[in-house]
Amino acid sequence: MSRIKILPEALSNKIAAGEVVERPASVVKELVENAVDAGSTRIIVEIERGGRKLIRVADNGRGMSRDDALLSLERYATSKIAKDEDLFAIQTLGFRGEALPSIASVSRFTLVTRESDADVGTCIQVAGGRIDKVSDIGAPVGTMVGVAGLFYNTPARRKFLKSIDTEMGHIADTIASMALCRPSVQFRLSHNARMVKSWAPAADPTDRVADVLGAAIKKEIHPVERAGEDVHISGWVAAGRMARTTARGIYLFVNGRWVKDRVIQHALFAGYAGRLMKGRYPVAVLSLTVPFDQVDVNVHPTKHEIRFIHQKMVHDSVRDAVAQALRQSDPTHWKAPQRDIPESVQRPPAVSEPSAGYGRWRPAEKRGRRGDGQAVSGTAASESARSRVAAGMPMPLAAADGVQPPAAPRPVSDPPAGQEPLWSRRFFADLAVIGQYKGTYIICESEDGLMLIDQHAAHERIVFEQLKRRADDRGPTVQRLLVPETIDLGFREARILEKLTPELDRYGLEIEPFGGNTFVVKAVPTLLDSGDIPALVTEIVEKTAQIGVDAEMETIMDECLKVMACHHAIRAHQQLIPVQINAMLAQLDVCDNPSHCPHGRPIWIQWHLKDLEKQFRRIV
Ligand SMILES: Nc1ncnc2c1ncn2[C@@H]1O[C@H](COP(=O)(O)OP(=O)(O)O)[C@@H](O)[C@H]1O
Ligand SMILES: [Mg+2]
Repeated sequence: MSRIKILPEALSNKIAAGEVVERPASVVKELVENAVDAGSTRIIVEIERGGRKLIRVADNGRGMSRDDALLSLERYATSKIAKDEDLFAIQTLGFRGEALPSIASVSRFTLVTRESDADVGTCIQVAGGRIDKVSDIGAPVGTMVGVAGLFYNTPARRKFLKSIDTEMGHIADTIASMALCRPSVQFRLSHNARMVKSWAPAADPTDRVADVLGAAIKKEIHPVERAGEDVHISGWVAAGRMARTTARGIYLFVNGRWVKDRVIQHALFAGYAGRLMKGRYPVAVLSLTVPFDQVDVNVHPTKHEIRFIHQKMVHDSVRDAVAQALRQSDPTHWKAPQRDIPESVQRPPAVSEPSAGYGRWRPAEKRGRRGDGQAVSGTAASESARSRVAAGMPMPLAAADGVQPPAAPRPVSDPPAGQEPLWSRRFFADLAVIGQYKGTYIICESEDGLMLIDQHAAHERIVFEQLKRRADDRGPTVQRLLVPETIDLGFREARILEKLTPELDRYGLEIEPFGGNTFVVKAVPTLLDSGDIPALVTEIVEKTAQIGVDAEMETIMDECLKVMACHHAIRAHQQLIPVQINAMLAQLDVCDNPSHCPHGRPIWIQWHLKDLEKQFRRIV
């Protein structure tokens, strides 16, 4: 007798349920997907005891005839695909034809459905996969599926269910994600007969985003929009400071399907480069539209995973779209460019770069509301600074950090056609400086409110971008050391430094081997000419060891530049004179990313006047 048997359908459905129905939220997902595929505009989800007792999803979609309703419970019965080719161009959320039979095999299942042209609806009752009763029933147009006693006949699965709150949390997340992607559909969720959440149809999709992610996010999200030939990306990204400690604020959709995709997630992080602190996750809603035949959704029974045919193209488009949206979120973009600035206005100087020029440095009194020449602190230095600034004289940059006054102005060439000229993006330079707090934060008045700027973070960003820009533009300006510095390293560290020297050279840090594990530093970028050079080089090597020498050189160099910028940047608890602050603010305007230090920490925070007034109960 043959030992191999074809499994009875009820058993094979149970096996399929093992994959498709992991927990109550997976049932909700499948049923809501079916409702969406049926063209519903209202989907009502009722849950009892976290889904253990009951899950009921009712929609106002197109419904089913009695024959179709019976067929829908058969394995591999679907109205969504018919032939081989369809599988490679899936336009609906469902297509596998296994959700209903799988769910029905592990629950007490009721299906009530009516098509619009039918006088009467159909009710089918199933228990553990066996049809108990089929009857006519009066019902509204649409479909209602009730799933009671989930896993009642698979105790092993039932044991794995978590607490009611946990299961309810998963269900709410599932509906929230569906709601995000379908703003025009009304969703309602209730638990134990109490309304949990109702998402009204939203004419403006941003309202739905605010509804799902919380109203506070509305002011902080920036639209993403990029129409490419083969991928269209839309959605919203929140500023880096709204980042969270988990990935739960990330919602990704491809052709209307909620997905968990590594490629898009990686691209999202790449777009946020330099704007997120380590271990933080952005808040983002991204919806990609790609031709149906360029994405494979038949990767996993839960249909959460997908594969792109042109993975790199998709990745790079998402990264660029996100980066662009975030750039627009920088305050330099808040204001319309000031076209009335004369062409001769120069790029502002480096705060601490002796060779850089102030150009036609505007005297403080002409700089917006900062013009009252307010002192930054009560020190003697700032007193003298105040009088000089008030007199409209350029100031030496500080005895404080040994920096010389600026030399001749350096003209800025015209921007490429179609690109906004850098000097027209002025935000920070127009802030009115109120003072310095704890020698660490610069307090400013902006048009909208009150701003605090972290001076170390700001300067770190400035130096980082300048080092980078110099290397890219025309090679770094280097300062030869009169007495080269010698550095001794351990064996492993020495091998790392050997590998790094040609690259560091590009940035103006000239290091040569001196036999064994010894090296000499012959020149440094002018920007970094002061400071403890051996400590800097040692930290660069340590950092590289940490990320691994085999990482991409671009990544390693980015880290090295961060170390350089951090070493050189002005510190916290350092008094600055007005002209230093002014120079720094002007330099921030030239930064690609004036909102985050290279490690992703925020450079500034702002309180809107309205919010302050609310707190003081001046307005309600
Ligand atoms: N809410 C619904 N409204 C209308 N038709 C439905 C609904 N749910 C399921 N169906 C029909 O039942 C079929 C089987 O559903 P399902 O088992 O989820 O498989 P799939 O969605 O993969 O086709 C669907 O193809 C669809 O024709
Ligand atoms: Mg389905």
